[in-house]
Amino acid sequence: MKTRTIGDVTVSAIGLGGMPLSIEGRPDEKQGIATIHAALEQGITLIDTADAYHQPGTHEVGHNELLVAKAVASFHGDTSDVLVATKGGHLRPEAGSWAQNGDPAYLKEAARASAKRLGVDAVGLYQFHRPDPAVPYADSVGALAELLDEGVIRMAGISNATVAQIREANEVLDGRLVSVQNQYSPAFTSSEEELVACDEMGIAFLPWSPLGGITNAADLGSRHAVFAEIANARRITPQVLTLAWELAKSELVIPIPGSTRPQTIMNSATATTIKLSSDEVQRLDAAVAG
Ligand SMILES: NC(=O)c1ccc[n+]([C@@H]2O[C@H](COP(=O)([O-])OP(=O)(O)OC[C@H]3O[C@@H](n4cnc5c(N)ncnc54)[C@H](OP(=O)(O)O)[C@@H]3O)[C@@H](O)[C@H]2O)c1
Repeated sequence: MKTRTIGDVTVSAIGLGGMPLSIEGRPDEKQGIATIHAALEQGITLIDTADAYHQPGTHEVGHNELLVAKAVASFHGDTSDVLVATKGGHLRPEAGSWAQNGDPAYLKEAARASAKRLGVDAVGLYQFHRPDPAVPYADSVGALAELLDEGVIRMAGISNATVAQIREANEVLDGRLVSVQNQYSPAFTSSEEELVACDEMGIAFLPWSPLGGITNAADLGSRHAVFAEIANARRITPQVLTLAWELAKSELVIPIPGSTRPQTIMNSATATTIKLSSDEVQRLDAAVAG
């Protein structure tokens, strides 16, 4: 599997997004573990999770972290190079709502709870999930700096950040910001600015909902005709073509498609073998711009 780097860690160029395995509509645990095992079998070494990936209601905070930890621990192969990236600062108190808590004391406690659920001394990559308008951004990111200094987390990232916030976070972290996770797909390209800024700053960019999100991923081809056309010509799926197009944006882009079935993550992994021509990339870029 083709690799890329986050900070000083080498990971597969495609990661697995854990969210659909734990929120509403999730499969049973057996299928969830089979999906994560299929990813590991393909050589995927980056798994994205969050303490907020659970059904609404506080009783099962960390559902996805526990599932990922269980799957990694029960995998038959070597998992020493697997990077589990989790996030804190988002909450799902009730159906349909996602709340923020960027309070530094809360984040420090949440990171320790995540490490415990993941069964690790230090979280491999801890990402501040979403800016909290009630808390100065530098204060929230300051908690990540302290967590790094205290050895609770090995690397720090942010999510849902603007270019100004990326620069601010990197300053607060004394140049130790290693990743930014923002929404990016053919249907949502407005974080192109952040992707470009990350490329310039040498920071990994992890597109979330890279296929347009759980409810739109299946019919990606019917929403984006040029993606369907080029995929047909290459005899690949529009989803694989989309991931290859995202990979072509920068050597620092690492898409994290979500999956609830072994087949879909196995299919996504093949995107790392696709080399698009500059003409194809230009046509795809023009299609999403216009
Ligand atoms: N930081 C944030 O605020 C934030 C927000 C949202 C998501 N995320 C992260 O980003 C990850 C990905 O986003 P997402 O799960 O919302 O959306 P997504 O990756 O765009 O779409 C997920 C859906 O794509 C389908 N799929 C995956 N690979 C496919 C393939 N090769 N062919 C056809 N269909 C395929 C899956 O179907 P099946 O169910 O049939 O397998 C799954 O339901 C999440 O899991 C989460 O880790 C982060």
